[in-house]
Amino acid sequence: MCKVVCFISEKGGVGKTTACFEIAVALTQVHALKILILDADYQRGGITGRLDPRLITHFSTGEMPGVTLFHKFQELYSAASQSTNLDIHSGIFGIDFVPADPRLSSVSEDKLPSGRTIRHNSQLMLGHLMLVDRVLEPHKQNYDYVLIDTHPEISSLLRSAIYASDYAVSPVKLDLQSSIGVPTVIGEIQGVNDDVAAMQATLGQPAEYTPTKFVGAIGMMAREYAGDLKDSEDTEYRRLTRVGTMFEHYITEGDGIRRASQNRTSVRTMSIANARKQTAQIDAIAIEFLAKCP
Ligand SMILES: Nc1ncnc2c1ncn2[C@@H]1O[C@H](COP(=O)(O)OP(=O)(O)O)[C@@H](O)[C@H]1O
Ligand SMILES: [Mg+2]
Repeated sequence: MCKVVCFISEKGGVGKTTACFEIAVALTQVHALKILILDADYQRGGITGRLDPRLITHFSTGEMPGVTLFHKFQELYSAASQSTNLDIHSGIFGIDFVPADPRLSSVSEDKLPSGRTIRHNSQLMLGHLMLVDRVLEPHKQNYDYVLIDTHPEISSLLRSAIYASDYAVSPVKLDLQSSIGVPTVIGEIQGVNDDVAAMQATLGQPAEYTPTKFVGAIGMMAREYAGDLKDSEDTEYRRLTRVGTMFEHYITEGDGIRRASQNRTSVRTMSIANARKQTAQIDAIAIEFLAKCP
């Protein structure tokens, strides 16, 4: 059965898009799984640009052509009837994706029409929270996993992505700044789960909600010294491991991924030695990912 996994962090530049993309490539290329990526990193669209470089120009014009997630939110705001049709693109490596739409920056519960009663308002809010899930639902049957790359900001869009997800992972740099963001991410997930429970109690719906489970932080850009993690990074790694929220495997910082991202491709296709090392690390993370997100 298809599982939905979102990639979240409080900060940008920690390797979220890289983790989402490279894990997707490993799942398709090594494990022959069928993957759909929902690119909700609407400002950068890093996944969209890698999977189909022809779409990059639309980030400067400010809108992605076709039917995107943005239109589904618009329907909700204009109280139009709600449809689930969505343009799904085929990208390189056999990965399907829903492109990021810069207009998603305008998504906000504030745009919802005002309801007649408190109960009606709650229903509208719940509809907003459930939107990503509702839109993905008919497509799930075609995939083993749906991965959601997100924008580093606590927003209504992020909350809807969390609601839609069975699992969440958090790519982090192994520094204090980034790793103290992990409890924030866990808190945000808990907030969505709690809100659903509260709304279920008042509205008597949605009946079937399995709380989103945080399965761990993934160390990105880890720095090594003589084959081991640098002292300060080792301290963060151990601290996160102790609280049970760390993937065992991590990715070291290096030129392979840097060059691959300059070329808008996977590190797997690069031939320098560092790329082979990072590819092996990603493969180990992908195996852990499959075990943690069954
Ligand atoms: N292990 C790594 N080694 C070197 N550069 C990396 C590594 N992981 C990510 N990067 C680079 O860091 C930058 C930020 O990564 P990105 O995945 O876009 O972060 P985010 O999505 O969290 O903003 C990108 O230029 C990416 O190529
Ligand atoms: Mg990103």
